[in-house]
Amino acid sequence: MEIRENITLAPYTTFCVGGPARWFMEAASEADLTEAVSFARAKNVPLFVLGGGSNLLVADKGFPGAVVHVVNRGIREEMDGEHGIFTVAAGEDWDRFVSTVVARDFAGIECMAGIPGTVGGTPVQNVGAYGQEVASTIVAVRALDRASLRMVDFSAANCQFGYRRSIFNSTARDRYIVTEVGYRLRLHGAPHLAYKDLAEAFADKPATPKLTQVRKTVRSIRRKKGMLLVKGDKDCRSAGSFFKNPVVSESQLADISARVSKEANLAGQAEAAPIPHFAAEPGTVKLLAGWLIEHAGFPKGFALGAAGISSRHTLALVNRGEATADEILALRDQIRKRVLAQFGICLEQEPVYLSGS
Ligand code: EPU
Repeated sequence: MEIRENITLAPYTTFCVGGPARWFMEAASEADLTEAVSFARAKNVPLFVLGGGSNLLVADKGFPGAVVHVVNRGIREEMDGEHGIFTVAAGEDWDRFVSTVVARDFAGIECMAGIPGTVGGTPVQNVGAYGQEVASTIVAVRALDRASLRMVDFSAANCQFGYRRSIFNSTARDRYIVTEVGYRLRLHGAPHLAYKDLAEAFADKPATPKLTQVRKTVRSIRRKKGMLLVKGDKDCRSAGSFFKNPVVSESQLADISARVSKEANLAGQAEAAPIPHFAAEPGTVKLLAGWLIEHAGFPKGFALGAAGISSRHTLALVNRGEATADEILALRDQIRKRVLAQFGICLEQEPVYLSGS
């Protein structure tokens, strides 16, 4: 495997921001990955694993360690009754995989069409959209253990999936490198139309839509929100949602609502708008980060230098041209500060920040 030096990372990310990696490798096999881990160890530098770069912000100074870009390919499949088990190499493009299986009428991931990135990233942050999460179809994850240099096979239960969370980005962060993911998809299964925007798109159609129609509709909803990678579309130079939707306890929600009403009263306003929320784990609710940001005074299209908020979705911070990572972080901090002051909520960043420190 070739080991290159001082490779600018911006083109490997959907944000198109960031400086160089001191060393850069492309791993097309498990053996290449093992070599990458050994190389970083020998140099005594950190190793960063790069997939599709769609949930990543790279610092302007770049990364003084080694970056390994996972580019293995291949899909194996076998039938298990009504289900197809697809074992997909981590380096495969996620959206291409979705479109391939949807075209063959396999259900289970159709709502996650149009998400940029590679297959290997999907279990790490339990990718989800429009009411589906990969956690519901993943049956196996194969990964290289960086400590022992052995391959480990995880069952879905062992991945400990939660909202945008798994063992790979929490308790065992930086321990494993995902090389393959197994998905169990139902042949001729019904599409999942739980999410409001999606259900509404088919509300006036009597028949259950085909998976291909659902995929198309999801892509068009994403496109309208600037969440689809379209050449020349300035709103899509982003890392998707920049903040997680905060999950708070029911009593916290009551406190926040009381605080907002009190402030509205003090300001002599009529009733404050109720804070939208959805039921999450028992006793908790999920708030909408996009709503909180807008109500903290940041409209769509807000700009801070070359960094900005997407003109079509408040939750996406965008690179409006030649933005630096520092500008994006300055905007992030401004948003966090105001949301904290107004609602007492600390927004959690969703994309990974890669830097020297
Ligand atoms: N909203 C606003 N302003 C906006 C956009 C949304 O107030 O500009 C509020 C509205 O009330 C809207 C609601 O948020 O009805 C939901 O919006 P949307 O359907 O776009 O969902 P989201 O909560 O903003 C989440 C995921 C997205 C995923 C969509 C669809 C997170 C952090 N984000 O966004 O995932 O595509 O749902 O399921 O959970 C990502 O993680 O990078 C990502 C793009």
